[in-house]
Amino acid sequence: MGLPLGFAVVGLGAISRMHLESITTIPEARLVAAVDSRQSQVDAVVSEFGGIGYTDYIEALANPDVDVVCILTPSGARRDIAVAAAEAGKHVIVEKPVEITVERIDDMIQACRRNGVILAGIFQFRFKPAWQFVKQAVASGRLGKLVMGDAYNKWWRSQEYYDGSGWRGTWALDGGGALMNQGIHAIDLLQWIMGPVAEVSAYTGTLAHERIEVEDTAVAAIKFASGALGVIEGTTSVYPGYTMRLELHGTEGSVVIQGDYITEWSVRNTSEAEMAQVRKYYAPESKQSTASDPAQTDCTWHRLQIADVVQSILEGREPLVSGEEGRKSVEIIRSIYESARTGAPVKLSLGQ
Ligand SMILES: NC(=O)c1ccc[n+]([C@@H]2O[C@H](COP(=O)([O-])OP(=O)(O)OC[C@H]3O[C@@H](n4cnc5c(N)ncnc54)[C@H](O)[C@@H]3O)[C@@H](O)[C@H]2O)c1
Repeated sequence: MGLPLGFAVVGLGAISRMHLESITTIPEARLVAAVDSRQSQVDAVVSEFGGIGYTDYIEALANPDVDVVCILTPSGARRDIAVAAAEAGKHVIVEKPVEITVERIDDMIQACRRNGVILAGIFQFRFKPAWQFVKQAVASGRLGKLVMGDAYNKWWRSQEYYDGSGWRGTWALDGGGALMNQGIHAIDLLQWIMGPVAEVSAYTGTLAHERIEVEDTAVAAIKFASGALGVIEGTTSVYPGYTMRLELHGTEGSVVIQGDYITEWSVRNTSEAEMAQVRKYYAPESKQSTASDPAQTDCTWHRLQIADVVQSILEGREPLVSGEEGRKSVEIIRSIYESARTGAPVKLSLGQ
């Protein structure tokens, strides 16, 4: 496999710019193929970023210059493309959620294992310095015994957001609503920092949108494997929408992190040196968010994550967010849906 690695991008919709800009600015990567079932999308991307255009991903997978495939099709339309890519010997990067059920994700994980290629799931927040700082602080025991971990993702999406898309709000292709599409970043970060979730008990509702099959509002009480407790709240129904927030509490301290910033650091025995670190990530109010606007304009974090995948391929190691890592938030969300449907608590596999 020569350098730079050749990339194919499959699915040239809203999120594709983050991948295309990343690929064209990482020295060890280059764009080889741009794929979308809509010819107009293909033409627009090829004229701006180069590469060969395809409307059928099977033809792009036959191109020997393709080493890595970024799959950015709707969430429930990734498994077959990922399995075909793995069978063709290509490494695979997929957007969040990795897929919409753990069974479909397992098919992808197994296909990639069988063919000795990497499967990575995009969770760009894990690459932001404030989150890495908090993850490290909690892992090193700064909060003492963890007692509570809460994730709040109270966003606003208009009716037009759902009406204007053939797949958003459907079980088959979105796989869920306020949690599977929007809240998943907060849920991934919560379990990354607090550890595996053991059990959930939940309610969901469709309260403020029409013509969607999935929930636009969800609440869950959760029990972590450590014994800590917490809540997850997610919605796309509250105007004007608020920045994603995690509240983390232990016997030695509490941290609140909101969007890209720490907004509260109350930890016993914080030294001046540690406080100086905290201040780098501290802001009383978050400055940017997708709480009411889905458009993303800064590809810095996608670039860092895709660069990590490139290095993992070159070094023969797992990427920081593997398919198995990406599977965890989907298992939590599916368990929340099952609990809401049956009215009973749901235990998760602790293989998480
Ligand atoms: N990481 C993030 O923060 C983030 C943000 C937005 C979206 N996403 C994820 O990215 C994915 C795509 O979202 P989007 O907003 O770009 O959607 P979109 O509807 O704008 O784009 C999807 C594209 O896929 C194409 N497509 C569908 N099926 C195809 C197929 N079989 N072969 C080739 N092309 C096909 C469509 O024509 C469309 O251009 C979703 O899973 C979403 O959850 C992630």
